[in-house]
Amino acid sequence: MYYNIDQTFEQNIENYRHWPICDLRSQWPEVSTWQDFLGYKLALPIGVAACPITIGEGIRHLANYGFSILTYKTIRHTQYKAYQPPNLSYINAKDLLMPNNLQQTWLTATNFLPNAAEIALTNSFGNASLAPDWIAQDIALTKAHLISGQVLNVSVYGEASTDMSQLDAFVAAARLAKNAGADMIEINFSCPNLQEQLFIADLAQVFTIAKKVVQAVTPLPVSIKMAFDDNPARIKLTLQEFARAGIRAISAINSVPMKVLNMQAQPVFGNSRKVSGVSGFPIKQLALNFIETISHMNQQQQWGFKILGIGGVTEFNDFDKLLNAGADVALSATAVIQNPMLLKNHLCSLD
Ligand SMILES: Cc1cc2nc3c(=O)[nH]c(=O)nc-3n(C[C@H](O)[C@H](O)[C@H](O)COP(=O)(O)O)c2cc1C
Repeated sequence: MYYNIDQTFEQNIENYRHWPICDLRSQWPEVSTWQDFLGYKLALPIGVAACPITIGEGIRHLANYGFSILTYKTIRHTQYKAYQPPNLSYINAKDLLMPNNLQQTWLTATNFLPNAAEIALTNSFGNASLAPDWIAQDIALTKAHLISGQVLNVSVYGEASTDMSQLDAFVAAARLAKNAGADMIEINFSCPNLQEQLFIADLAQVFTIAKKVVQAVTPLPVSIKMAFDDNPARIKLTLQEFARAGIRAISAINSVPMKVLNMQAQPVFGNSRKVSGVSGFPIKQLALNFIETISHMNQQQQWGFKILGIGGVTEFNDFDKLLNAGADVALSATAVIQNPMLLKNHLCSLD
């Protein structure tokens, strides 16, 4: 794995500079095949989702490795420390999660790398963010590094504090991203490790934040990152509000909050973090279900959202499954953390 679980988030960022140097963008298909996406051109309908390697030299290497949509790891407008390591672990999960077993399933963490097609992770970082000046410079560097055919999507999060409301915190993070050079903004309404602050149920608040962020970053397109949900009525109401707020795209799904135990049957990240986000192989079917649902609604209601399909890509053809389920573009996090050069074989076979 390209993330060292024994080291801090900051130490890991330092390590990314040592990744292999290799530019696969010369292998992209010819420009006439590129697709329009929210006013940009994408060389491939494939990208990398927000995760701890999409920052610093990590995101710039991933740009070289051929991904077309680069999602910068969720930022806040102010510095926020990551939890102490470990924040990431493999899971031994041979079964797919289904909507009706999310509550009772407890997965087991393991030190061993599962077979690549079954790779699964659990994580709990706490939406860490480095100092705003560092972030601004890093986003600008990343933007300068991208070439035609690539788009920089920056994920943002806001939390109320003594001197700022949650609304203002979201808007400040989005402005930081825009001023630094983001091509589009992704509002993270679905971090699985901050459950007490999940407020997607409060639709009035969600609408206000979405609308103010859209206004603050105009003309940049804004997407919202959603969590898995299997309640069609609730999904429809939520999407309706997003459309009304001027949101242009939906990213889904985020990792799925679950109880993951270690070999001693204790919560893998300790008792203060009993729930952590599950990603990779086990969430494959949930992601496909959710993308199918929202894509269908999007067509019926004519909202015009672009859909960024995320979740459970462990092999190259999983990108196609998300696209066939209705996503306009497909992104991966877990499999890319395991193997940042996930696209190499595909791109080199296009010759
Ligand atoms: C270690 C790790 C950290 C993540 N951090 C973020 C984050 O900061 N913001 C975010 O929106 N999603 C985050 N995600 C969720 C991913 O973007 C993605 O939605 C989820 O992992 C499902 O995709 P996957 O199965 O390809 O990993 C993270 C995922 C992982 C594995």
